[in-house]
Amino acid sequence: NVIILDFGGQYSQLIARRVREAHVYCEILSYKTPLEEIVARKPKAIIFSGGPASVYSENAPVCDRRLFDSGIPILGICYGMQLMCHLLGGRVEPARAREYGRAELFVDEDGGLFQDLETKMTVWMSHSDSILALPEGFKTLAHTKNTPHAAVGNGKNLFGVQFHPEVAHTPRGREILNNFLFGIAGLSGTWSMKAFVEEQVKLIREKVGNKKALCALSGGVDSSVAALITHKALGDNLTCIFVDHGLLRKNEAQSVEKTFRDKFHINLIAVDASRRFLEKLKGVKDPEKKRKIIGEEFIRVFENEAAKLGKIDYLVQGTLYPDVIESGTETAAVIKSHHNVGGLPEDVEFELIEPLRDLFKDEVRRIGAQLGLPEEIVYRQPFPGPGLAIRVLGDVTPEKLDILREADAIVYEEIKKAGLYRELWQAFAVLPDIRSVGVMGDERTYAYTVAVRAVVSEDGMTADWARLPADVLDNISTRIVNEVPGVNRVVYDITSKPPSTIEWE
Ligand code: XMP
Repeated sequence: NVIILDFGGQYSQLIARRVREAHVYCEILSYKTPLEEIVARKPKAIIFSGGPASVYSENAPVCDRRLFDSGIPILGICYGMQLMCHLLGGRVEPARAREYGRAELFVDEDGGLFQDLETKMTVWMSHSDSILALPEGFKTLAHTKNTPHAAVGNGKNLFGVQFHPEVAHTPRGREILNNFLFGIAGLSGTWSMKAFVEEQVKLIREKVGNKKALCALSGGVDSSVAALITHKALGDNLTCIFVDHGLLRKNEAQSVEKTFRDKFHINLIAVDASRRFLEKLKGVKDPEKKRKIIGEEFIRVFENEAAKLGKIDYLVQGTLYPDVIESGTETAAVIKSHHNVGGLPEDVEFELIEPLRDLFKDEVRRIGAQLGLPEEIVYRQPFPGPGLAIRVLGDVTPEKLDILREADAIVYEEIKKAGLYRELWQAFAVLPDIRSVGVMGDERTYAYTVAVRAVVSEDGMTADWARLPADVLDNISTRIVNEVPGVNRVVYDITSKPPSTIEWE
């Protein structure tokens, strides 16, 4: 396996992706990880990420110098290379000409890193410091017009590149990384999702032994895959709790039960708590209040069920790598208090099992598919923890929920039928608290308006409204007014995020 030592670079995740794409397993560790811990993991290679600091700044992140004597092949990228040179006695200084963006790289010596590549190539640079003098024993492997030492090596185990091989703007970047991984470090590229699952199953077994674990299943892909992996490891010592808060979409609860209980034979406690939630939500119009009530109630229901099971030592969570990164940064302003189904009380004493902590969403999807999870879960679009309660504007009543459920199911079916489901971030129906006049048959009607929301997005942070084909919109509209009693008008939301948000509340 490979360790990526993270010095705060914005591309650390991307480096990990590239290594995984080469079928080599890797983990990202903080630069603060003690030497002993790094060595104990027996890495076959280490990659130092870039980072925003200068090696001379006061709080510059540093690693243990003895790492270089370990004999483990190390590739330093950008800051990682500068740090390596700095710690080994080279000289790093602010560059005379800073380099951002595309640069032409001239290879002076292949050194293993540029094996089978042309001697001239485009690379992506982003640095303001440069290496002026190399440490003893190092050689220049490549240069650019402004950077005399753009790639370096000591002829043995240490390599550095000033440019970023991990970004798409370095077209030969993959080959360079692969040369390091396969040629230099002698890795074999045999890691696969299957191997990952087996490895996790082994780790969970070792960790948990004969004790019991609990998983809050939401029906989303993350908690589902986490549950499946843990179930492989623990069998009946895993219990999943699925809380139906009555704010789910049409047939959702049944489908979760069918999948996990009938297909995978997992111990599943499905709690129908819809009455309880609806009672608490009665008359509540404020979106933040709704979220809070649902979040708290969820925890209470979960606790009740968990208490019935006796002592539980472990809790399974579907935390993904981007969640790990995000919770580490506290800069983002809270626009809405997001609540995840599975958001749990802080005072409970469980140890966590998080088998997906190192994975990206698309990797989790691939594992899910491999484990036989149905497509509707593997490719499920994001669905907010508070469910339909934040799509029924104003107070939440069973009648409104029923209308929304039917309308939403039609949006889903038509989007699926048009083959658009996977390319949209989300597509759903909203029930604003509006009634308007219409005419049906020869009768005047006074009924609800349904809003359709469909967006494209990379990560949900920003989004654009989807340019759905007119005939798809037409099918949706026609079907909703014909098939859902109580609705006589359908509108399409054509705002992006920002200034709107994806959900209406
Ligand atoms: P907004 O509405 O903030 O949504 O643009 C961004 C993404 O987050 C989802 N979302 C939530 N997910 N609990 C969740 O688990 C929540 O309270 C919540 N609110 C919004 C939303 O569906 C979109 O994908």
